[in-house]
Formats: sequence, structure tokens, C-alpha cells
Amino acid sequence: MSESLDLAALPADFTWGTATSAYQIEGAVTEDGRAPSIWDTFSHTPGKVANDDHGDVACDHYHRWPEDIGLMKRLGADAYRMSVAWPRVMPAGDGPVNAAGLDFYDRLVDALLDAGITPNITLYHWDLPQALQDRGGWTVRDTAEHLADYASAVAGRLGDRVTRWATLNEPLCSGWIGHLEGRMAPGLTDLTAAVHASYHLLLAHGLATRAIRAAAPEARVGLVTNHSTVEAASSRPEDIAAAVRMDGHTNRWWLDPVYGRGFPADMRELYGVELPERSGDLDAIAAPLDWHGLNYYFPATVTDDPQGPVPYAREVRLPDVPRTGMDWQIDAGGLESLLLRLTDDYGVRELYVTENGSAFPDTVSPDGAVHDPARARYLEQHVSACVRAVRKGAPLAGYYAWSLLDNFEWAYGYDKRFGLVHVDYATQARTVKTSGLRYAEIIRAHRESHA
Ligand code: FCB
Repeated sequence: MSESLDLAALPADFTWGTATSAYQIEGAVTEDGRAPSIWDTFSHTPGKVANDDHGDVACDHYHRWPEDIGLMKRLGADAYRMSVAWPRVMPAGDGPVNAAGLDFYDRLVDALLDAGITPNITLYHWDLPQALQDRGGWTVRDTAEHLADYASAVAGRLGDRVTRWATLNEPLCSGWIGHLEGRMAPGLTDLTAAVHASYHLLLAHGLATRAIRAAAPEARVGLVTNHSTVEAASSRPEDIAAAVRMDGHTNRWWLDPVYGRGFPADMRELYGVELPERSGDLDAIAAPLDWHGLNYYFPATVTDDPQGPVPYAREVRLPDVPRTGMDWQIDAGGLESLLLRLTDDYGVRELYVTENGSAFPDTVSPDGAVHDPARARYLEQHVSACVRAVRKGAPLAGYYAWSLLDNFEWAYGYDKRFGLVHVDYATQARTVKTSGLRYAEIIRAHRESHA
């Protein structure tokens, strides 16, 4: 199973981490003053999530975090990307801070630091307080301002110990999947709402960046975005144009404004929705960042689809290519090219892979182990892609595997397992999978290569 990896090519201080998010693992949705988020509402709406699963208990991380930190130590990871739940800290979305909610993260951060694990905190990983959704959610500007206030409260409390901060996780999913495709909370299918949400999400990123820096002067602030490489399905001019549109929708719309280029003109025209712009917004959105986080899972191949939904480009399913249990195509080359695009085209100076991983239908064997060679192979191929990107000049400073634990995989519920550690949801027993052991070996081998 093992592939030889030239790990020495990665910098000596390369960060190795795992990643999770609050709603996907914490459970304890009514404890210590937490109020509902849009994902509580969505997952409790029949038919929205596979098996009508929800995050009420999830991995019970809210109570089992000491054990989970122990698992991180077993993997040898030196960093942990986690998110803070806005509905724990500011249950109404704005207004008073719930001290008990912040206390949880305060204890968690201290315990991580005691274990020698550096926390990297994402403020918004999709769990918008329902109270704000009831007032328009991301389609209204106020929500962006509230995110900044919430960011300031969290950074004010934890910023003396936490220096790595991300504002948002994957605004594309909140914007497009949540408001245009309806497959994620809040489940809308409205182009105007989606374009306005995308604008306010990026504005929220900009305002929160400022707020974090004001509250925590040592903070190094980044943004986490997800991308796919986009290929045309054929050399037909219509397919090539479709690929340009899909690239605009998936990649440029989310990167151009952040890197000072404004919203791409071709996409503005295609959407035909007026942006809720005010003067100064674009400067806020383009505030220089300390780092950029790339989440990468799969590439896209598209064909022209004039009758289909925006952006009139449809993904085609390539035959005979390797796939994960999500049916996502496996293509580590896509990770390499996106890292190089962020470096060469957008001028990013410090990069992290903030998520990358694969779901497969794992089971615990009679010997008590979870044998998942396909996930180990996916991991090796993608770490190898990181090595190639670094050799070609990408300023890649770390890799966070998605995910530490099997968890609530949004609309797929608990069916899809991404963990390096298996979770038996009936007993909450954790079992490190063989891919987790392989990750530990990779981390050790990299350290030894620089010893
Ligand atoms: C990403 C999400 C993360 C997880 C992975 C599989 O889009 O950021 O929470 O669900 O996909």
C-alpha cells in the first residue's frame, strides 16, 4: 500500500493536522445555552438529510473532547483545525455573549495547547444561528456585521492563546449549495438570494478579518475556500465556454474579489443580479490575508448545458476513473494544480491544505481493526501532490486531513465516513483506522527526514 513519498521536500516546520467542524461532531445541541442553527432546522426537516439524520448527538465531542485530543496525539498531529459554533457563543446571532458557550472553547484550547497541538480556529463552518436566518440570513447585510461582532468576541477571549484564525469555511457551499441548489441549509433555490448571500459572505469575511485583528493583535487570519479544477468534456467551443463559466462559478467568483480583482465581470453578467454593493466593501473583502486555506476533494469535467441551471454547464461522469464512496473522482493532480494556481495566479504567500480526504464504507473487522487501504492510498496520493506543488514553488506550510473522526456528513448524514478514526455511533467507541496509522507514519517520516 505504501508509496514512496519524498517528504523531505516539505519544509521542516510543515504543519500536520486533522480537521473537524462544530456541528459535525459536537452534539449537545441544547446544552449550556446553545440555540438552534440553520443546520438543526434543516436536519430536522424530514427528507433533507439521508435517513433523517441530525447532529443532536453526532460524535458527542462536547463531552468526549479529552479522548479526542488523545487520538490526535496518537496520530502525532501537531495542529487541529476546528470551528467554533456561533449559536453557542451568541445564541441569538447578535447581542449578548453566552459565557458558558465560550468557556467550552476556552477549556478545549487550553487542553490542546497542553497536548502540544496548535489550534486553527474557523469561525463560521455553516452553523448560522437560526435567529439570524429568521431575519434574512446571508441574504441581508446585517448578518455580515453580526459575524464580525461574534468574531471579535471569540478572538477577544481566545486570541491570547490562538494565533491561527479563519473567518469562513467554504463560502461557495453556503452561497451556492445552500441558496441556489438547496441541498444544504438553509435550503433555498433562488439565484438572487444566492448571489446576495455570496456577496454578504465575502463581506463578512472582510469585516471579520478586521475584527479579529483588532481583538487579537497576534492573530494570523486566513480564509478557507474549496475549489475544483475544471476541464471541458470535449474540444467543442460550447464545452470550452461551459468550462470557463464553471470555473467562474466555482473558483473565480470566490477568489477574484478576495485578491483585489473585484467580482468577475463575465459572471456578474451571467447571473444578471445586481450586487448589494456599498463603497468600501471591495476594500474590506480584499483585506490582505496572512494565509489561504484550500479544501480540495475532486476535479470537475463539464459540458455545455444551455437549458440547465446556472452556470449552464453540467458535470459529466467520466467512466473508468477511480472514485471514493461519495462517487467523487479521485485526482490528486487537481490538488497540485490548484495549489499552483493560488500561488502563481493569485500570489498567495502562505498556503495550507485545510481539508482533503475521502469517504469509504468502513467496517470494524472481527480483529477489531478498521482496514481502509483505499483511504490510505488517497492520502498518500494527495500528500504526494503537495510535495510536487512545493517543488514547483507553492508556499505550502501545512496539510489538515479531513477528518479526525467519522462525523455528520451534512446532507449525507452518518452514511459517509471520512474519519481517520472510526466512530461507532451506537457506543461512541473510537477506533483508529489503518489510514490513521499510515498518517502517523507519514508525519513521523517527515520529521525524521529533517532530524
Ligand atoms: C467539505 C466541508 C466539510 C466536510 C467535507 C467532506 O465541503 O467543509 O465540512 O463535510 O466537505
